[in-house]
Amino acid sequence: MKHIPVLLDRVLNALGDISGKTIVDCTFGAGGYSRAFLNAGANVIAFDRDSNVVADANAMIAEFGDRFRFIPQTFSHISELECNVDAIVFDLGISSMQIDVASRGFSFRFDAPLDMRMSADGMTAAELIDRLSVTELADILYKYGDVKKSGILAKAIKDKLPQTTFELRDLIYNPNDIAPVFQALRIAVNDEMGELERALSVVPSLLHVGGKCVCVTFHSLEDRIVKNTFRAWTTPLGDPRMPVLQPAPFELLRAQTPSDTELENNSRARSAHMRGVIKRI
Ligand SMILES: C[S@@+](CC[C@H](N)C(=O)[O-])C[C@H]1O[C@@H](n2cnc3c(N)ncnc32)[C@H](O)[C@@H]1O
Repeated sequence: MKHIPVLLDRVLNALGDISGKTIVDCTFGAGGYSRAFLNAGANVIAFDRDSNVVADANAMIAEFGDRFRFIPQTFSHISELECNVDAIVFDLGISSMQIDVASRGFSFRFDAPLDMRMSADGMTAAELIDRLSVTELADILYKYGDVKKSGILAKAIKDKLPQTTFELRDLIYNPNDIAPVFQALRIAVNDEMGELERALSVVPSLLHVGGKCVCVTFHSLEDRIVKNTFRAWTTPLGDPRMPVLQPAPFELLRAQTPSDTELENNSRARSAHMRGVIKRI
């Protein structure tokens, strides 16, 4: 299934007039955001770690020429960009193509090898389970999935070392824990929180004054990282007991959630939040 971009109208609205500006699309996916930025007259540098999107990216290069550049890397590589840019946009998580293709192993709805990698390198979920201790696995289930009794479940998983999605699913005795366990493993396999933290840490130095960073998140863990990072950037600097503080380097844009119409048309938008900031100094 082709990915339907989430909160795209809100993101475009937050970015304002982008004609002639340079936008980094950190999560190319099916290219819905990149295409909209290009159609609005922007130049786009796009990242994606999933080699399956390269054909779509190449088609966009053929269509838009040197206004579009694709970098097949994780987005923490934005630290290597050699120019300042006008906006950096993240539409986090996985795409419909990733979750809906059985062989990728992301979904407990299809039987497939327990893979869950967004890119072709690194450890699969099955290999990660094999490598971790019971305690480390329990920590991951608790931290990234909020799974209660994570220790008991981690022990059951380590005892069986599931190799397929259905083998894992069948070990999870509480049906309410199935989606959280799959989410937790996916986050760990792809180091999603580490990637986000590393990328956000270089955003201030990459943006021009007046530049914006906009993030669309899909669960509370990534939303918390974005919210806390933006709060730190928008807090005046200096000792709060002193009468004069240095102005904050960034200002918050209004946070947004999907409209009722978007929610009716795209169930993936359900948990989406958009947060943004503009660089002031
Ligand atoms: C929600 S989809 C983006 C959809 C896109 N905005 C569109 O309109 O089609 C997320 C994409 O980001 C990619 N991705 C997730 N984390 C990444 C990371 N750390 N580095 C690079 N790409 C990443 C995934 O491979 C996936 O293709």
